Parts: sequence; C-alpha cells; structure tokens
Amino acid sequence: MIRWFNHPKDELLRDLALPGSGTPCTPEAAQNLALAVALRGLGSVSPNPLVGAVLLDSANHFVGAAAHERLGGLHAEARLLADLTKSLGAKALQQKLKGGRLFVTLEPCAHEGRTPSCARALAGSGLKEVIYGVIDPNPLVRGKGAGILREAGINAVDASSHSDFKPWSAACEDLAGFFRHNISTGRIFTGLKIASSMDGVVAFEGDRRIWITGERARAYGHFLRMAYDAIAVGAGTVLADHPRLNVRHPFLKDPSMSRTPRRVVVDPRGRALEFALGGNLVPLVTEEPETTVWLIAQHGVELDLVHRAEARGIKVIAVPIEPESGRFIWSEVDGALQALGIRSVLLEGGAGLYASALGSGDGRTRPFVNKIHLFQSPQILGDRSPAGAKALRWNTSASSQLSIRQDRVQLFQLDCDWGFEIPLDTAAGV
Ligand SMILES: NC(=O)c1ccc[n+]([C@@H]2O[C@H](COP(=O)([O-])OP(=O)(O)OC[C@H]3O[C@@H](n4cnc5c(N)ncnc54)[C@H](OP(=O)(O)O)[C@@H]3O)[C@@H](O)[C@H]2O)c1
Repeated sequence: MIRWFNHPKDELLRDLALPGSGTPCTPEAAQNLALAVALRGLGSVSPNPLVGAVLLDSANHFVGAAAHERLGGLHAEARLLADLTKSLGAKALQQKLKGGRLFVTLEPCAHEGRTPSCARALAGSGLKEVIYGVIDPNPLVRGKGAGILREAGINAVDASSHSDFKPWSAACEDLAGFFRHNISTGRIFTGLKIASSMDGVVAFEGDRRIWITGERARAYGHFLRMAYDAIAVGAGTVLADHPRLNVRHPFLKDPSMSRTPRRVVVDPRGRALEFALGGNLVPLVTEEPETTVWLIAQHGVELDLVHRAEARGIKVIAVPIEPESGRFIWSEVDGALQALGIRSVLLEGGAGLYASALGSGDGRTRPFVNKIHLFQSPQILGDRSPAGAKALRWNTSASSQLSIRQDRVQLFQLDCDWGFEIPLDTAAGV
C-alpha cells in the first residue's frame, strides 16, 4: 500500500532512517521510501518541488536513496549518484547501476539550471529503468527528461500511465503540488488550517483557553508548518494567543529540519503590531522577528509604527484594502508575498480569517484557497464557553464557489481526532 493518501504524512518522518545497502526491497517499498526521503527537503527547496529518489540494483536490493534537500543544492538523482560515488567508489557504483531501477518522484530534469541536467547524468549510467512519479510541468523539462533517457536506451516509465504505479503517481503529484500550482497559475498555493469541534467551534470569547484538538493533531499542524513557505494568522489571534508559530514536531530527529517558517500577520490597521511593539511579550517579535511579516494597509497606519517595526527587524508591507469592506485585496497580498519569495502560505486562523477565506462572496477580498486542512475533534464545546463560542462561518454563496475535488479528499485518524485534506478545484480557487 502506498502510504500517502488517507495516511498522516508526518508518520513518514519516522522512516527517514534508510534500510541497509543490499536489503531486499519491493517496488512498493521503494515508492514509499522515495516519498519519505523527499520530506528531507521540507521548507528548504521552495520554489523548487520536493523530490525523492531510490535506487534498486538488478536483483531488487536497496542501494541508496536521496532527496533534493535545499534550493541551489543538488537534485535528488544527482545527490544520490554523488553520495554513492563517495560511499561505494565509482567502479562499484557502476556495477550496482547496471540493470538497476531508479524510482524518482519527478521526471528527471533535462535542462542545465542551477545544477547540471539529471537526465543526462543518468543517460550513461547503465540503468535498465527509470520510473518517475509525475511529469515535470516546467515547460523547460516537460517530457524532455524522459526523452533523453529513452534515447539512451533506458526504459523511462511515466508512473501515471502505468496501472501498477498509478497510486504512487497521484501521491507524487500531491508531493509536488505547490510547484505544479505555482507554474500553472502564477499564484501562491494557499492552504487553510482549521481545528474545529463537532459543533463547529473554532474559538472562544473572552479569556477562555482550551485546546480543541488533541496532541497528535496538533503535532500534524507542526508538520504542515514545515511544508508551507509561510504561515499567516489574523490580528485577533496574535492579540488573543501570542502564538510562536514555529515548528515543534515530536518525530523530528534532525534539528536542522525545525526551521521557523515566514510568519505573516494579517493586520490591516496595525493594531496587533502596535500591541506587540508596546513592550508586550509577543513571541513573533521577541523570537526571530526577521521571520515575521506584517501586512499593513496603505492608509491609516502611522509611519512611526512602521519605522519602529523595521528597527526591530520586522518587515512591514503595504497592501491596498478595499475601502468598503476594509479587507485586503487578496491578489495584491499574493503579489506582495511572492515578491518576498513566498510561494505557499498556510492560513492558520482565527475565526475572522476563516470567515474572510470562506465567508465572503467577493473574490477580490477572499483568499484563493487551494486546500483545506481540517482537524475535527469529537468534542462538543459550544456550551463550555460562557460568553458564547465562535463557530465556523461559511457563506454558502461563497463556499458553493469552492468546488471540492471529491476524488482527492483524504481522511485519516490522529488519535481521537479526524484529519481531512480537502483539495479545491484550482479553477474555482483562482
Ligand atoms: N480553531 C483554530 O484552528 C484556531 C486557529 C487560530 C486561532 N484561533 C482562535 O481564533 C481567535 C481569534 O479569532 P479572531 O476572529 O478574533 O481573529 P483573527 O481571525 O485572528 O483576526 C481577525 C482580524 O484579522 C484581520 N483580517 C482577517 N482577514 C482579513 C482580510 N481578508 N483583510 C483584512 N484584514 C483581515 C482583521 O483585522 P482588523 O480587525 O484589525 O481589521 C480581522 O479583524 C482566538 O481565540 C484564537 O484562539 C482558532
């Protein structure tokens, strides 16, 4: 079984320890390993996609695995060849490659970019077969990498057109989802993360603090933070929760993978920023302020506030608002974030930000959501908030425009909670 869909993907972080060289390895195990190893690049390869590669010898024994680990670093296939040359020596590697099979989650690249062409590096390797999960959507590569392999006599298999590999291909498509979306639409990939009780409660009035979901679901939320380039919260969440918005995942053994993502505050009037700069202990300012970006509307925010923020290392970007609603024009937010190199953003709440993402019929001021990550707890919380709970507000006219790709909805259990991944049709999302 391919452990990707309907599976908590962060479980794969446990699989980052590789099998020993020479261990028998089924094609299915190799496919799972290629997905797992790709996660080594989480948060470090954008705008490139996550890619993993696994090499089996002619007798289906594991030889090695590698990932594209950081932007500007070697691609997965080149990393694999370089690592194995170092550990085995060129001659022994040649023997292992002869008649072997490579599973790689993305079509090997054809072009010389920051790194040399992987397809050319593989062409003279003696491999029998290269099975790639998904065609590279980049027009510079699309189909050309496979062409180079075929010309060299290697059987280049597009997993999407082969019944044995279709489930893996769908997972590889998902793995490269941000990249595919960026290339095809020119827009940021936007996720919406919601923790909700059974009765739709997402926040409490007043000072009441309670976790809606359990520890396991919250750990999964940290995995999502690793995956996205940036995470965003509304001003209300900063004022209510003073969140850290960093990565604290219990399965992470390698501390270098716990990087803090870019942290964005949707703060049109600068009220959260004012509070944070006023000597209050807001970790977004006291810890790594340079990873925090505050969005401020052009009008009505004092220049002095902006200067004080910038003196603390915080980036303040001006984005126009729609005067009637007081909401940001979201295509401008998209452009401003892209100018900072951000290609994917996870909207983490709270209730007001959810409402603006799901509840407004106005496409200009509504974030274009591509995927909803919903964590549903079995608790009923409405009557536990004396001042009245805030429930998720969906505006049916807006949410009916959010067309759910039912064939791709994923559902998995996280102890007592359910995790949903709900992809939205790109045509409706853009
Ligand atoms: N269940 C969960 O998963 C979850 C996650 C995070 C937070 N929360 C909870 O949610 C509560 C906070 O919710 P909240 O509704 O008070 O605050 P919020 O959603 O964090 O922030 C709302 C504010 O953000 C700004 N904003 C949001 N969307 C905007 C848009 N499209 N354009 C311009 N500005 C926009 C507005 O600021 P201005 O008012 O300054 O204009 C708005 O009032 C907290 O209790 C927190 O614990 C729950």
